[in-house]
Amino acid sequence: MTTPAPIGIFDSGYGGLTVFREIRAKLPQYDYIYLGDNARAPYGPRDFETIYHYTLECVQQLFDMGCQLVILACNTASAKALRTIQQQDLPRLAPHRRVLGVIRPTTEILGHYTKTRHVGVLATRGTVVSQSYVIEIQKFFPDIQVFQQACPMWVPLVENNEHEGPGADYFVEKYLQELMARSSDIDTIVLGCTHYPLLEKKIRQYLPEHVQLLSQGGIVSGSLIDYLNRHPEIDAVCAKGGQTQYFTTESPEDFDFKAAIFMGEKVRSKRVTVER
Ligand code: DGL
Repeated sequence: MTTPAPIGIFDSGYGGLTVFREIRAKLPQYDYIYLGDNARAPYGPRDFETIYHYTLECVQQLFDMGCQLVILACNTASAKALRTIQQQDLPRLAPHRRVLGVIRPTTEILGHYTKTRHVGVLATRGTVVSQSYVIEIQKFFPDIQVFQQACPMWVPLVENNEHEGPGADYFVEKYLQELMARSSDIDTIVLGCTHYPLLEKKIRQYLPEHVQLLSQGGIVSGSLIDYLNRHPEIDAVCAKGGQTQYFTTESPEDFDFKAAIFMGEKVRSKRVTVER
């Protein structure tokens, strides 16, 4: 019999906390382990092999901690590593455990939001180059045209706690102008990186009012509820004690300070080494 264990939530850094926050608000009864690979963030500019390798190490770390279900709360890892992990690594390493991402739940509901069928996706360079959003949206809603914009400066702004400063305005305006110049019919924009909700206030300032912004916290948490209902065998191996543990590959002091801003509460993390 498998011992019930926390649900693992992974991101390259702090971004996954925007998803975790909403998951925990909707499912407070579960135990969670959040792992941020802050020492190696950002993942966005890295190549496929590196992102896959880093993500797999973090997933294995969460497995070593007992997690039976791991959510990649990171679009870049979901785009570049999830499929290989699900198809090649899981059957070999842990056939009964599950790893889920954030792109599919986002793309499968998109068609309900856009009227013009012109959708913008703001994401890291890695996610944009992978074309994952374009491919997935095409599967569910072939009538939607997707306009992608890489925003390579946004994650560093968030990771360095500069997202509310005046420096952020320049890059927020620049990338949004570039995106909207491709189609003035865009009526819905996906924040396709879990770091970006921290910039939401500024993003709103530079967009026409009628454009809707979709962030993933609400979407992914709703989809997780649905998943656990549909998979009682996985739900049964998720511990329910309402406890959260945080781990980072960088300085715990730094993590605690910044994560507290995301979570709106005191955070106490531990350092972990994930390299194998
Ligand atoms: N938060 C991650 C995402 O959703 C990526 C950030 C990074 O570049 O490391 O894509």
